[in-house]
Amino acid sequence: MLLIKNGRIIDPAAGMDGEGDIVIDQGMILEVRPGGIKKEHAGRATDTIDARGKIVVPGLIDMHVHLREPGHEYKETIRTGCRAAASGGFTALACMPNTNPVNDNQSVTEYILDRARREGCVTVFAVGAITQGLRGEALAEMGELRAAGAVAVSDDGRTVRNAELMRRGMEYARTFHLPVICHCEDSDMTAGAVMSEGYMSTQLGLKGMPNAAEDIIVAREIALAELTGCPVHIAHVSTAGAVRIIRDAKSRGVKVTAETAPHYFTLTEDAVSSFDTSMKVHPPLRSARDVEAVKEGLREGVIDVIATDHAPHSSLEKDVEFDHASFGMVGLETALPLSLRLVAEGRVSLPALVAAMTAHPAKILGIPKGTLSPGREADITIIDLSMKKRIDVNTFHSKSKNSPFHGWEVEGGALYTIVKGKVIKDSSGLLV
Ligand code: DOR
Repeated sequence: MLLIKNGRIIDPAAGMDGEGDIVIDQGMILEVRPGGIKKEHAGRATDTIDARGKIVVPGLIDMHVHLREPGHEYKETIRTGCRAAASGGFTALACMPNTNPVNDNQSVTEYILDRARREGCVTVFAVGAITQGLRGEALAEMGELRAAGAVAVSDDGRTVRNAELMRRGMEYARTFHLPVICHCEDSDMTAGAVMSEGYMSTQLGLKGMPNAAEDIIVAREIALAELTGCPVHIAHVSTAGAVRIIRDAKSRGVKVTAETAPHYFTLTEDAVSSFDTSMKVHPPLRSARDVEAVKEGLREGVIDVIATDHAPHSSLEKDVEFDHASFGMVGLETALPLSLRLVAEGRVSLPALVAAMTAHPAKILGIPKGTLSPGREADITIIDLSMKKRIDVNTFHSKSKNSPFHGWEVEGGALYTIVKGKVIKDSSGLLV
């Protein structure tokens, strides 16, 4: 029996924010007691964590991760990706299907989930593909994906170019209660482009992607959600236009949710002037105005979720000219401190931030996580708001080091990560 004492417990799904204790027994939450637990339980605790001055929250969930296995194990594996997640305070993640082979069928989903059960220290949920091979030509067998355990479908990394196929995909997904996660990018408008289009791209002489390429597809997916009644989730929102379109759709009652990633509210396109290839991401880093809109979207709740889009790449793909580098940056081990900056700036309240990393992704994916309710698996993150550290990619548990935040001084992070009642990270580091 594990007792977590005296922490400030924030559990947005249960509407709780206050000091209290939590008792964990056999991997499950036995009791959450504001102000302190019953004597009978206190006496039986075999281990105690004193969380005084710390924040105790449901285990963080990252609904947008690239684990790279099967197929690109030199960048990341299920094992290393899960360790990076645990180190960053995440107890569960959902992995995208752009592996090799693509997760567009039962055997790949089963392979990922089976390997995650054996080698992963956090809980892995699989996202299946919308179209076979992510080719945008024919729909994947979604019933089979659902039966194998997939919790959503996405062609992440690409937009399903054909709107009619996407419409049928949404109709099909809806039948199996699978939310559709949309990568919004008009690929005809972004072909050959490597950063956001604007003053900076002109100055650097790099081909730019206009904001409109994102906005157009966000609007299309929302129109298709209205047509089909399928819940859609807009991945990695980066533009002011996307925030505006989603706000409008939500106000009209459309079943749309959205996420952004820490780099979209932390960096602007100006960072690309360093030609550091870890700044090269899809969608691209945008203008200060867009960053402001993304922060405002989070504050208002127009953007529901903070996810990392953890996209590991090796030096083979990144230590090359900017034009030739692959898109993506790792995020699992920097997301929490970067997100806590929003709280320190007074832009987002701490409970709202916690909801964006726990209750909201759990609800969107329909998974029994993201809350500390008694009877649930004891996935818990204990946050220390005053922990100071310098980000060092060499200490990452991820196999890949493509982070533009190397050397940044940050404050706040995960002190403990607890998965199914087991402490897998404490102040000394990972224990698995
Ligand atoms: O930057 C990105 N990298 N964006 C995506 O959508 C895909 C990802 C990847 O798989 O590398």
